[in-house]
Amino acid sequence: MCLVGTIAAPTKRASNPPLRGSEALVGYSTTENIASGTQPDIKYSLLPGQKENPDIGSYLDFENVDNPQPIRGSTGSDDPGPRLSHNRLGIDGAGWARQENTVVMPDATDMAGVDMRLEPGGYRELHWHVAGEWSLVLNGSCRIQAVNPDGQTFVDDLTAGDVWFFPPGVPHSIQALSDGVEFLLVFDQGDFNEDNTFLATEVFLHTPKSVLSKNLGVPVSAFDNIPDDELYIFEGTPAPEDIEEQNVTTQSGVVPRTQSYSYHFSEQPAHEVAGGSVKIVDPLTFPIASNFSAAIVTVHPGGMREIHWHPTSDEWTFFIQGQGRATLFTAPDAATTFDYRAGDVGYFPQSNSHYIENTGDEDLMFVEVLQASQFTDMALGQWLASTPKQIVADTLNLSDSTLSQLKTEKQYVVAGSTSD
Ligand SMILES: *[C@@H]1O[C@H](CO)[C@@H](O)[C@H](O)[C@H]1NC(C)=O
Ligand SMILES: *[C@@H]1O[C@H](CO)[C@@H](O)[C@H](O)[C@H]1NC(C)=O
Ligand SMILES: *[C@@H]1O[C@H](CO)[C@@H](O)[C@H](O)[C@H]1NC(C)=O
Ligand SMILES: *[C@@H]1O[C@H](CO)[C@@H](O)[C@H](O)[C@H]1NC(C)=O
Repeated sequence: MCLVGTIAAPTKRASNPPLRGSEALVGYSTTENIASGTQPDIKYSLLPGQKENPDIGSYLDFENVDNPQPIRGSTGSDDPGPRLSHNRLGIDGAGWARQENTVVMPDATDMAGVDMRLEPGGYRELHWHVAGEWSLVLNGSCRIQAVNPDGQTFVDDLTAGDVWFFPPGVPHSIQALSDGVEFLLVFDQGDFNEDNTFLATEVFLHTPKSVLSKNLGVPVSAFDNIPDDELYIFEGTPAPEDIEEQNVTTQSGVVPRTQSYSYHFSEQPAHEVAGGSVKIVDPLTFPIASNFSAAIVTVHPGGMREIHWHPTSDEWTFFIQGQGRATLFTAPDAATTFDYRAGDVGYFPQSNSHYIENTGDEDLMFVEVLQASQFTDMALGQWLASTPKQIVADTLNLSDSTLSQLKTEKQYVVAGSTSD
């Protein structure tokens, strides 16, 4: 299995860091150092005909290809992994995108996801959408920029493990830095469709040039050379290394730090627990993403994300690394078990209990995303340990000795042996 393997594994520290980070990680900081390296060398082979004009329609059989790649003709680009689903390819090898929404997972009504790759210098075109967009950078680094309704400006560089959020209607762009980028987008609408975003090129194409001329106060001829089709994902001029060259400051000023669209989650150390680690980012530390709460969970081999449920929200889960098995319990009597590996998406409806076991021999890593103003969960163990013993004994017929071993602290991830 090829892995993203990019969100740095948590390192052991003298004192255990808290679950949440600090507000100092919000927004651009002059001390930040996004080391943008070179493009990783991904080993793959192409099928005969894969680089030819896709309109010719030659049949490609990927069955026996090592590490098949989302490349057709001059579109698409390579993929450090993991895989999710059907890819939409960008122009001239500039990148690709694949999405999960209610078309493929009808029960996942509250959130949808897109996994997107941009080659070095590749752009996701200037655009906006009706949904709010929360993102986790999976690999490489990128520059993001936006303008808010008050005309305030925002620009920042993010690396693997960092998070951004763009509210509905706020126009933004994303450009890969010199090492390329892959990121996960999560939208607060299950039926979100990446094909239906408002693109700058489309706005210009669908407005009479005389209107553009009147609106922007320039001659009609100024629009002689605008693109005659959408760009979506395309190759651009590499971003200047010095971010200050793209720091547009106007009389409106910059987006204030408390409302900033980025959170440097990669710099937040993970909270260690018995079977792995957890780190949380939610509106308590990243206020602009007012209804997005997330946890990156690492589960060591044999360990398990404990039995829990989220009282106020469905959970949308993306598997970043490793492999796991989850069982979802839905009242009154349905239990469903799924196997997941890197690149897969899981969905656990509000208050439906579930657990995720690491079934592999390397760390399992996933991100749980909630529609909530705070990351919360109810843990089965903590609940029973904190309930009068007599009530639990009368209900479940557990012995005194068992009851006295239940832990009142939330475990998040319990340890276990791989031979269980
Ligand atoms: C991105 O993925 C590639 C291929 O798995 C890996 O070699 C590289 O280190 C990753 N880059 C970052 C910045 O994590
Ligand atoms: C941009 O300029 C503003 C105002 O001078 C400054 O506060 C900010 O740190 C600069 N850089 C970025 C990346 O926002
Ligand atoms: C957060 O999302 C949930 C689920 O979509 C929704 O019911 C709730 O109204 C949202 N809350 C806010 C404050 O937007
Ligand atoms: C509870 O368990 C004990 C054995 O420890 C058994 O004797 C008893 O019948 C059980 N009670 C019920 C109500 O099932």
